[in-house]
Amino acid sequence: MTDDADTKRDVARAFGDAADGYRDGAVLKEGAGLEQLVDWCADATRALDVATGGGHVAGGFSARGVPRVVAADLSLEMVETATTEYADATLEGALTDAERLPFAADAFDAVACRFAAHHFPDPEAFLAEVKRVLAPGGVFALEDLCVPDESKLAASVNRIERLRDPGHVETYAASQWREWLEDAGLTVEEGWETSRKLDVSAWLDRMDVPADRRRKIRSLLSDAPGDLEDVLEFRYESDGEQRLTSYRTPVVLYRATI
Ligand SMILES: C[S@@+](CC[C@H](N)C(=O)[O-])C[C@H]1O[C@@H](n2cnc3c(N)ncnc32)[C@H](O)[C@@H]1O
Repeated sequence: MTDDADTKRDVARAFGDAADGYRDGAVLKEGAGLEQLVDWCADATRALDVATGGGHVAGGFSARGVPRVVAADLSLEMVETATTEYADATLEGALTDAERLPFAADAFDAVACRFAAHHFPDPEAFLAEVKRVLAPGGVFALEDLCVPDESKLAASVNRIERLRDPGHVETYAASQWREWLEDAGLTVEEGWETSRKLDVSAWLDRMDVPADRRRKIRSLLSDAPGDLEDVLEFRYESDGEQRLTSYRTPVVLYRATI
């Protein structure tokens, strides 16, 4: 519990310092996944965006006419960033931990969480909270990074992610999320796996990774097992020396209902 509290404090601080990048970075501000999540929840009357970051999902809900939207995050700077960027009478902010949502049972008919669950120390506690705050017939829309089922490859990805961002807890396989969703009593209605291209330099810049850790990450990536290179579609540029410029990170989306 102490470890989790420390992790969450570190995460809130790290994201607070990086709020502008998460508001402005195209990788989060755009994307088919963002549109899909908003679409899945657009009929809601009360929608919650957990770990809202720059507020792109919550803002999408308001733009689609959802009458009451809550943009929730562990970091005060993120809540302020989201509510300023998407200022709207329908949208309010909430400073909260995803694993202890301060809302009554059945308070929402849609809950979304995008690219954040890999920061949660206890994903099953988070899903239990989602189930509790969702009214019968409600929808949960999840998008997150995922890893291949093969445990060695998954461990390599998580090691690299933790070096880039000490608040990274763990990225899980899509199959693990499906199992947890079902164990939580949610019914998976749709699910698909896709991938997103990551520009390596921009990805490191977004978290302001110091030079020594950048070197370590680049060296781990260049020594990565061949399977990982194939699965993540590494792309290089070469001006004398080969340099990894981008790779594709696997992503999972689920729509689940209760
Ligand atoms: C990558 S950003 C989220 C991106 C955002 N959902 C979007 O679609 O642009 C991750 C966010 O998760 C938040 N976060 C991490 N752990 C959290 C927790 N336990 N509870 C609530 N928010 C958390 C961070 O503060 C950060 O704002």
